[in-house]
Amino acid sequence: MKKQITFVALLILSISLNAQKAENLALTPPMGWNSWNTFGTDINEQLVKDIADAFVDLGLKDAGYDYLVLDDGWMARERDENYNLVPDPKKFPNGMKAVVDYVHSKGLKFGIYNCAGATTCAGYPGSRGFEFQDAKLYAEWGVDFLKYDWCDTENLNAKGAYQTMRDAIHATGRPILFSICEWGDNDPWKWGEEMGHMWRVTGDIINCWDCKVGHGTWSSLGVWPIIKLRKDIRKYTGPGHWNDFDMMEVGNGMTAAEDRVHFAMWVMLSSPLIMGNDLRSASKETIEILTNKEVIAVNQDKLGVQAYCHSDEGKIEMWAKPMADGEWAFAIVNMTEEPVEINHNWSWHPVKDDLSGRELAVDRIEYTIRDLYNHKDLVTTKKSLKSTIQGHDVLMIRLTPKK
Ligand code: GLA
Repeated sequence: MKKQITFVALLILSISLNAQKAENLALTPPMGWNSWNTFGTDINEQLVKDIADAFVDLGLKDAGYDYLVLDDGWMARERDENYNLVPDPKKFPNGMKAVVDYVHSKGLKFGIYNCAGATTCAGYPGSRGFEFQDAKLYAEWGVDFLKYDWCDTENLNAKGAYQTMRDAIHATGRPILFSICEWGDNDPWKWGEEMGHMWRVTGDIINCWDCKVGHGTWSSLGVWPIIKLRKDIRKYTGPGHWNDFDMMEVGNGMTAAEDRVHFAMWVMLSSPLIMGNDLRSASKETIEILTNKEVIAVNQDKLGVQAYCHSDEGKIEMWAKPMADGEWAFAIVNMTEEPVEINHNWSWHPVKDDLSGRELAVDRIEYTIRDLYNHKDLVTTKKSLKSTIQGHDVLMIRLTPKK
């Protein structure tokens, strides 16, 4: 009896120590790549290796992307005789550990997918009832990130289901970033901070500016429908716990200008930046967008405040993000397909964010203005900001108090 009590006490102590380790995993929004948007279940060992190589060769790793995440479709249809999950032997002939080791050898981290339900969304074995066993297996393979989906979860309570997997991860002793993929059905922003590091806020993204595509019980949403649906849950996001606006569709068919807007908005909203395109065949323009360090730095700002819509004048929307050290970022987006001229006088449009209590003090402070996509300094806030923004394009700027 005494031994049992000691064991339970040690287990609880180790879970809570591991929980502390896990707290530091996502102090800024996680960055990486996920296989789903482009490849669906058509994934294999060679693809993972090629993508890992591309991370390094294309400068993505250097720009801050480090998680390579394999989504649904990596498993065989059945567990083995010990009920362990089995990587599909055709897709992963050398098992999963070999794949994880390769990714680690490139200085990257490896993420994997499963589901809180009995089966995954693509019909493979889910973790329901096997949470501790599956988490242990992932830890043995060296997994660093778990995306945990919400299909086939009949009668499960969302918060409770994610708590079980969180505890299973903590019990492994390995710091594993926990990505909650519950589509926003049960307000995960209200309980997600306690359970994981990021949570999806909508159903699946699709590569369009402003469309919705119905699939019976759910719809895929384009870039702007996602933003508009979840622009008001700002207060739930912050260092260690992020509203996840879904894997990006940059490079997947929108125009380059629309991709710039999409990327700028995910950056501004402090969303995790998870690429979803085929890195092996990505265009130079796509890679330029994804590796723009000046833009990425806004996303990785340590204050971690989600941007808000400062003004919506129909044609032009101006989104504002307060940052550390009194800096601000703005994304000025042309919502029309024609070029629009802007002439912005800073003192006529006071900028104050009630949530963070920060304001742009243009009456007292002069700010320099940096154009982040074109890498050049513009006028300071003493002068009106004049520019022509092309259709569905963005002027993304960073304001820094002048020394
Ligand atoms: C759900 C998720 C997607 C993807 C698929 C895999 O739809 O929201 O991101 O993981 O399942 O089947």
